[in-house]
Amino acid sequence: MSNRPLAGAVRYDNSGRVVLVTGGSRGIGFAIAKAFSESGAHVVSFDMSDPGVSLPNVETYRCDVASAESCESATEWLRQKYHRVDVLVNNAAIQPVESYVPIHQLSDEVINRMTQVNLLGYLRVARAVLPMLIEQGDGVIVNLASGQAHRSARQVGVYGPIKSANLMQTKQWAVEYARMGIRVVSVSPGAIDTPMVRASLEAQGGEAALANRHPLGRIGRPEEVASAVMWLASADAAFVTGTDLEVDGGLGAFGAFADPY
Ligand SMILES: NC(=O)c1ccc[n+]([C@@H]2O[C@H](COP(=O)([O-])OP(=O)(O)OC[C@H]3O[C@@H](n4cnc5c(N)ncnc54)[C@H](O)[C@@H]3O)[C@@H](O)[C@H]2O)c1
Repeated sequence: MSNRPLAGAVRYDNSGRVVLVTGGSRGIGFAIAKAFSESGAHVVSFDMSDPGVSLPNVETYRCDVASAESCESATEWLRQKYHRVDVLVNNAAIQPVESYVPIHQLSDEVINRMTQVNLLGYLRVARAVLPMLIEQGDGVIVNLASGQAHRSARQVGVYGPIKSANLMQTKQWAVEYARMGIRVVSVSPGAIDTPMVRASLEAQGGEAALANRHPLGRIGRPEEVASAVMWLASADAAFVTGTDLEVDGGLGAFGAFADPY
């Protein structure tokens, strides 16, 4: 059977919707920003760097999600300009190469930075944006978690537990805001071909080994995560909240007792 992906058949209409993506300058965030802009949305990306390619209907606003002040001022700019947010995608996160060590070798600097960006960054951007969603009585938050949130590996002693906390942020916020018309969901990708993964290929045993751990026999593409996010943010997923969708080529289904490919 061919593992060639089918041409995407679903087309969403996000005309007039305002979508905020954190970390939209590259990787998965860039693919999400692109997919929403192509479906008619106004997209704002909060990122610390500019995108390599600029896209129509995507504006990048300089923001460090690790800073409460930066999140507040960026959100205030967005509020003044667009007056609303329909979808927030909490995507900006880091996994520096120096974090691929057992926990007794981790530096405080790496622990603090990953906690500030990957855990508190999600919280701070959501905290800044939620008053708009509450006022609207409508909105969707999508948190990028990870396969590492569900099961462990060596050398992900900060990244894995924080990604797991992203799942719990999703459930907690979903419960908290459900009666205000706000849905909160997460997506857990397997290995996806992005600069983050490219930077750590060696630590993960090389591309072929990484691809082979996925039953589909390859790593995923950023667009394949974006299409899951598009569905979750759409009215088609109106009864979906507080849950996680693994977009992982079967990685999560592959048990420790399974024969290696
Ligand atoms: N690539 C994968 O295989 C994979 C797998 C599972 C989960 N994820 C998750 O998906 C999300 C995106 O990962 P990616 O691989 O596209 O990463 P990436 O490193 O390729 O891109 C991350 C983007 O976030 C921005 N960013 C980083 N720190 C920031 C900060 N403090 N403030 C604002 N922007 C900041 C970067 O500038 C960059 O544009 C992350 O949450 C990651 O944990 C990725």
